Amino acid sequence: MKKEISNVAVIGAGDMGHGIAQAAILGGLTVYLYDVNKESIDRGVNRINQSLEKLRKKEKISEEELNEARSNLHPTLDFKEALSSASFVFEAVPEILDLKQKLFKQMGEVAPKTAILASNTSNMSITKIAEHVQNKDRVVGVHFFNPVILMELVEVIRGSETSDETIQTAYDLCLKMNKTPVRVEKDSPGFIVNRVNAPVSVFIEAIADAGIAEPEEIDALIKSHGKPMGHFELMDYVGLDIVYDSCQYNKEVLHPNYAPSRLLTEKVDKGDLGKKTGKGFYDWSNGRPSIDL
Ligand code: 3HC
Repeated sequence: MKKEISNVAVIGAGDMGHGIAQAAILGGLTVYLYDVNKESIDRGVNRINQSLEKLRKKEKISEEELNEARSNLHPTLDFKEALSSASFVFEAVPEILDLKQKLFKQMGEVAPKTAILASNTSNMSITKIAEHVQNKDRVVGVHFFNPVILMELVEVIRGSETSDETIQTAYDLCLKMNKTPVRVEKDSPGFIVNRVNAPVSVFIEAIADAGIAEPEEIDALIKSHGKPMGHFELMDYVGLDIVYDSCQYNKEVLHPNYAPSRLLTEKVDKGDLGKKTGKGFYDWSNGRPSIDL
């Protein structure tokens, strides 16, 4: 058995949340997009509108599809309004376990008792996130990648008490959002993608930390192997604070070797968080950095 989903709530209108909301409205779902302040909501809605325009200009969607998608979106600052009619809730807030646990408890209390509660965490335990929720069988990980609207892959992660029905409903919802879901049957740090990426990142960043080569040189090599972005450029794109938190988590739950690298720590300490602040390993103040060596 699986549930038919038509109404969803997205909690958090940032990099990931606005993208999840956009994929959902394009999938024909009614979406309540919630954030704690008006600036965040407005920014998220603007990004959705700009992206929809881009897709329309390239004829990836029609004018009619654009208008329909827009009419499916309901931005709100009212948590109750966002959740009261939702049959599926996506959480996309910062990677702080305590914050997510508190939020899931509230989501469980405010959303309908049958609503599925999904976390977009990139590596945290779904079982732990569900700790204070009643009916833990309805909590699942649904991990999208940045930029959500262009990246097809989604990890659907089973927590220790997630039911088969919840997994199947989440899986089918991803299909409806034009994504390619993969099932992760065991709740484990980093799931599949970030579990593979974590050790690779340690090796790459150790080269820069040791002064063997500059980030730009390492990125040029990675790009010459056909990757769309270099490692440091991608970290800037995702947000160095997000990457840093993820390394800290991996250090605690997997191995001390996963601690954030020296250069990453220096950037975060200075508040140079990548694309979102205009500066990280690269200068993003005039758009995507070009790497001319
Ligand atoms: N909406 C609509 N279209 C968009 C868009 C958006 N938000 N962003 C970019 N595009 C379009 C551009 O307009 C461009 O269209 P065009 O080819 O017709 O001109 C096209 O997408 C390609 O964009 P760019 O020319 O700017 O650059 P790229 O060719 O490099 O593509 C990219 C951009 C898809 C982001 C590519 O660089 C890429 O795949 N990068 C790697 C992304 C990645 O690995 N993400 C995973 C990060 S890890 C993660 O997310 C985990 C999480 O938990 C933190």
